[in-house]
Amino acid sequence: MAPKTMFSFFLLFLVVEFQTSFGQDSVNGAYWSADGGIAASDIDSTLFTHLFCAFANVDSQSYAVTLPSDSFSQFTATVQTKNPSVKTLLSIGGGNIADPNTFPAMASQPSSRKSFIDSSIAVARSNGFSGLDLDWEYPRTPGQMADLGSLLDEWRAAVDAEAASSGKPSLLLTAAFYYAPTIVNASDDSIDYPVEAIARSLDWVNAMAYDFYDPSWYKLTQAHSALYDPSGGPFSGSHGIQAWITAGVPAEKLVLGVPFYGKAWRLVDAGNPGFLVPADGAAIGDGNIAYKDVKEFIAQNGATQGYNSTIVSNYCYSGTTWIGYDDVQSISAKVLYAKDNRLLGYFAWQVSQDLNWALSQQAKESWEA
Ligand SMILES: *[C@@H]1O[C@H](CO)[C@@H](O)[C@H](O)[C@H]1NC(C)=O
Repeated sequence: MAPKTMFSFFLLFLVVEFQTSFGQDSVNGAYWSADGGIAASDIDSTLFTHLFCAFANVDSQSYAVTLPSDSFSQFTATVQTKNPSVKTLLSIGGGNIADPNTFPAMASQPSSRKSFIDSSIAVARSNGFSGLDLDWEYPRTPGQMADLGSLLDEWRAAVDAEAASSGKPSLLLTAAFYYAPTIVNASDDSIDYPVEAIARSLDWVNAMAYDFYDPSWYKLTQAHSALYDPSGGPFSGSHGIQAWITAGVPAEKLVLGVPFYGKAWRLVDAGNPGFLVPADGAAIGDGNIAYKDVKEFIAQNGATQGYNSTIVSNYCYSGTTWIGYDDVQSISAKVLYAKDNRLLGYFAWQVSQDLNWALSQQAKESWEA
């Protein structure tokens, strides 16, 4: 072999080594929700490195992971048609899981954890997924957090053992967690995530940096997914990310969540729109409004639009409706924050709420800028 060719091989070897020993490439991710209203074949998968297929169920008796429809079995092949290198992860659970007691019960016993883990791996492999994503919203007690830690460690051991015996690359193992490593429960107790098991056993954490406020309970207009809170309060994406890092999950295992939806408050006084002004509930539906519907609301009502760069949130208003949401400016600022802080990447909830891929495109461009 000529020296030059040898040298090229050496370089190639280095590149491959770096990729395997330093973990993941970056994550430009998004969830696809089966009931979001678009087919998997409609996703512009060229805009993503990872797509999360949401949600698989957990049987409340056997703790087996089950797929709700054929679209899940075909998801990977479908999205890889446009982008053969996109990786897919099967997301399990979600905020609207049929029985909220299933995760706590499953995680509480070694035998039920094993049923869940073994079945999750089998389902992922037989349906072509590259990984598994846990969406347990949320563990509520210190005991449940400890059980979560056991689950993650045993899951990692099982995933590694399966890779060793099958000769395939390990399945990715991720979880969507609260935006910060501590949850304050209904009794005002602070419940900590099992950060050591998380840092040890997960490839990364999707930090759900949204839903900080909701018109159903917060009686002032607010940004539900601000990146910063200049008053120093805890409800901001940057606060959550820094808290995860301080708690012991390294930045390169954190992925910042961005919402493709806003929240619509009903103003008490139409003549007084703004941040932190009195509101009395949701202006539209339950208050959650997809980005594409925000843009339609703006077009139909000639709504006034603005961007608050101090906190990183777009907003618009017309009549007694005030909406805080993420448009291209907010998405760009958040993605740049993720990049500047050397996070692994970002993910969006969820693709069907985008309009003509404007937000997905902006996120990718900002990450690559
Ligand atoms: C931006 O948001 C902050 C916090 O809600 C608020 O205090 C400030 O007045 C807002 N700025 C503008 C220009 O609306």
